[in-house]
Amino acid sequence: MCALTSSDPETCTSATPLTLKSMIRAVARHFVMSLAAFCIVTLSLQHSFAADFQTLKGHGGPVMGIAVSPDNGSVATASFDNSVGIWEGRLPQWLEGHEAAVKVVKFIDGEQIVSAGDDNDLILWNLKDRSKVRLEGHTAKIMGLAVSPDRKLVASASWDSRIGLWPMDGSAPKFLSGHTSGVNMVVFSGDGDWLYSASVDGSIKLWDLRHATEKRIVDRNGFGINVMVLGSANGQSESWLAYGSQDGVTRVLDLATGERMHDFALERRPILAMTLSPDGTKLATGDGHGFITVFNTLDWSIETDFKAALKGPVWALAFSKDGEVLHAGGIEDIVYSWPVADLASYDPMATETPVFLQKPEDMSNGERQFARKCSICHALTVDGGRKAGPTLHKVFGRRAGTLPGYAYSETLNGSDIIWSAETIDQLFLDGPDHFIPGTKMPMQRIIQSEDRLDLIDYLKAATAEEKSGRGKL
Ligand code: HEC
Repeated sequence: MCALTSSDPETCTSATPLTLKSMIRAVARHFVMSLAAFCIVTLSLQHSFAADFQTLKGHGGPVMGIAVSPDNGSVATASFDNSVGIWEGRLPQWLEGHEAAVKVVKFIDGEQIVSAGDDNDLILWNLKDRSKVRLEGHTAKIMGLAVSPDRKLVASASWDSRIGLWPMDGSAPKFLSGHTSGVNMVVFSGDGDWLYSASVDGSIKLWDLRHATEKRIVDRNGFGINVMVLGSANGQSESWLAYGSQDGVTRVLDLATGERMHDFALERRPILAMTLSPDGTKLATGDGHGFITVFNTLDWSIETDFKAALKGPVWALAFSKDGEVLHAGGIEDIVYSWPVADLASYDPMATETPVFLQKPEDMSNGERQFARKCSICHALTVDGGRKAGPTLHKVFGRRAGTLPGYAYSETLNGSDIIWSAETIDQLFLDGPDHFIPGTKMPMQRIIQSEDRLDLIDYLKAATAEEKSGRGKL
């Protein structure tokens, strides 16, 4: 007892008889003290966790791309909701302009960023004067972007099988052809004279930018290559290239000899995200099974391999400017930012199943139609969150293109359609591309008339409710 509560003179004085009352008091005091000590320890632990762990909330669709500014450390996110978010701390600023999902975003300098995605265009955003310039030329979606080391050139990787080279002085772009399938990613060499490209055709090519010609094939893989990074063993010019493929392989090549140095096949198809820490010592990959793996690039050991997302893939990864935090995006609308030192000790992301992945047998046919075919782009609540499409709350009786605050396409803006059971039925009988040509809503038809009727019945009830907040749908 004395040892436990040595600061308590009453119980420690041997002359004091141990009465029942004093024993109870001593035990109670001990209990309170150890509780207090426990609280201080856990509070301070929580405090140090809270200082590092955070989530970035605000997107209305899965996050497909993340970038960190090398200048000021702010974070940019690209989302399925058609928008780009710029985060200083946890406060977002939204950049609207893309007409489909945004797949990739990069910082050019402290003031300018570039983004691209499913609408085939790049947009250059000036964060200071809020101006934007659209760069057109690709004829299929853009999956990758890179900024040259001198920041005078942006390269784009597109599923039209070409690489775009866009001079930042506004002069005409050039296109490099040679891949036989979509290009997923491009990376500049450290001196800016060379460009590496990774393609669905399974090859990595090296391009001579001074002559705009293909130099050689760096490696060939049986399956498409999704992501790659360049790294350096000596802290100077790049000496290795790591890539992640559709068949789940992470491979490291020696750039001087072309030799394959390391192969990691963890049976997690496909590798979707890859990023290098600013000091070059940690390579992180994200895959289709929701795992994040961190490799130590000094000895190529695996430092961490943990299930980061309970549901769905990890699509986007980026280290913070100081390398201490790893930002990750996946099937949810949220970016998770983990302290790198203790990655696996946090709760995983995507603990709630997004509605479009929920079990079909738990829903009526109408709800199932909505969950699968509409919910990724439309909310049913008043404020609706940020989704690619306008909220469908109170859509029946609404004139098309009139929800305040939503940036409709010109087609819908001036339309005189009134949404009703009949017009929504027609919309998905014909498909939006036929019913309202020029709309931003992607083509999709619902062939079975019963499915359309069930969907409309469901919508009638669900869009009439006075639900507010982002809700689950
Ligand atoms: C990939 C995203 C996407 C999906 C999936 C999608 N929509 Fe849309 N929807 C949009 C966009 C974007 C618009 C705005 C179109 C425009 O401005 O041209 C829109 C507009 C609409 C409108 C007109 C709203 C208004 O205010 O005028 C209705 C109605 C609609 N969608 C219903 C649906 C239904 C029902 C489904 C599922 C069967 C669905 N949409 C699936 C993106 C989507």
